[in-house]
Amino acid sequence: MGNVAVVGAQWGDEGKGKIVDWLSNRADVVVRFQGGHNAGHTLVVGDKVYKLSLLPSGLVQGKPSIIGSGVVVDPWHLLEEIAKLEAQGVAISPDLLTLADNACLILPLHRDLDQAREREAAAAKIGTTGRGIGPAYEDKVGRRAIRVADLADPEALDLKLPRLLAHHRALRRGLDLPEVDAEALKADLLALAPRVLPYAKPAWRVLDSLAKAGKRILFEGAQGTLLDVDHGTYPYVTSSNTAAGQAAAGSGIGPGRVGYVLGIVKAYTTRVGSGPFPTELSDAVGEHLGTVGREFGVVTGRARRCGWFDAVLVRQTMALNGVHGMALTKLDVLDGLPELKICTGYRIGDRELDYLPAGMTDQAAATPVYETLEGWSDSTQGARSWRDLPASAVKYVRRIEELVGAPVALLSTSPERDDTILMHDPFAG
Ligand code: GDP
Ligand code: IMO
Ligand code: MG
Repeated sequence: MGNVAVVGAQWGDEGKGKIVDWLSNRADVVVRFQGGHNAGHTLVVGDKVYKLSLLPSGLVQGKPSIIGSGVVVDPWHLLEEIAKLEAQGVAISPDLLTLADNACLILPLHRDLDQAREREAAAAKIGTTGRGIGPAYEDKVGRRAIRVADLADPEALDLKLPRLLAHHRALRRGLDLPEVDAEALKADLLALAPRVLPYAKPAWRVLDSLAKAGKRILFEGAQGTLLDVDHGTYPYVTSSNTAAGQAAAGSGIGPGRVGYVLGIVKAYTTRVGSGPFPTELSDAVGEHLGTVGREFGVVTGRARRCGWFDAVLVRQTMALNGVHGMALTKLDVLDGLPELKICTGYRIGDRELDYLPAGMTDQAAATPVYETLEGWSDSTQGARSWRDLPASAVKYVRRIEELVGAPVALLSTSPERDDTILMHDPFAG
């Protein structure tokens, strides 16, 4: 039995949380490897709903979990989310949760900068979650970041904070933000330290010994491949690599140990925030998808933009991730639509393309070429067996597999954990 990496294959919110939760009972450890608390992963178990942003979804099933060094960590948020989950009856202790000691921190100054830039950008804004993700990754790459391990080291803070704050002083002046009080920030961090440090460990060592003991690792991606900072619809992306390749670097494990790549694919398309979206619908069908699919952001509450399934984009993300199989989610949301469209190509001016090119103007100009399939009037909601699906639903799924070039390993038919059809166990490789 191998390891499994779960990645979003569209613009996020494909249902990664539900699928990671479902797979968790087959795994020995669950690892987040990128992003931060910009993620919003929903788990529905009976009458309980859990919404996780920073914590790995494996915790809900009581699985040991790791926040890898590729994640940017807001330590205040970390403690709040632990408290929130504990209030829902989920036990979290340093025995169960490991926080990579080399992960970089998101500080309040990152959130200030994120929000101030979005305000200034007005119409050109990215539509971020406003949680400081981008500025925190900038400081990481700029070698100015405060890391988890620095919380145990006041001398390191004295050395690093002046350089970090000098950089931010210039930025904040340009944005009319007040100066950061260095002493107060240091005191806040040191006050937080005793509650955060018990979780801090060399995550790579923990993973290495688990891997050597033959334990099964489940990597939990956040966001989606079209939000990847290299491969997504740049600049309307997040600030991390979201593709499966990052599972190795962001957890501190060799790429050979990543194993089976499971791409999570929604049966239609959604996006939250700005940026190109060729199959977006502003008609009654778009509204149907948003209402029936309850397409509202977990983190910001914003309405998600909705549209038809885009096979061109998903074929592209299957390649970018080396996807072995898909988990197709939210098929039930299409119940009752008389016909369904799938985008199979783009027209850009007088060109026809079978992929989304990198240029911003081209991406904005891409208009979809559709094929139309018959819908179904029967319900697929809550179906737990392939045999329960109407023939037209089976045809729709088969056509998606054909167009994107990957098989469906799991099919999800409602938010509930157990409304999941297993076609192929990803842990079997
Ligand atoms: P994530 O960010 O990829 O984990 O996805 P989100 O949790 O942000 O958004 C997915 C939403 O769809 C959540 O509200 C889930 O409870 C819900 N969901 C997941 N799978 C299904 C499904 O098969 N059918 C329906 N109707 N809802 C689903
Ligand atoms: P999950 O893990 C959907 C989007 C934001 C914005 C862009 C940049 O729940 O799928 P950021 O705050 O990251 O700098 O925002 O990325 N975004 C997401 N969209 N699902 C997410 O996570 C997202 N995380 C960030 O809306 O367009
Ligand atoms: Mg989400």
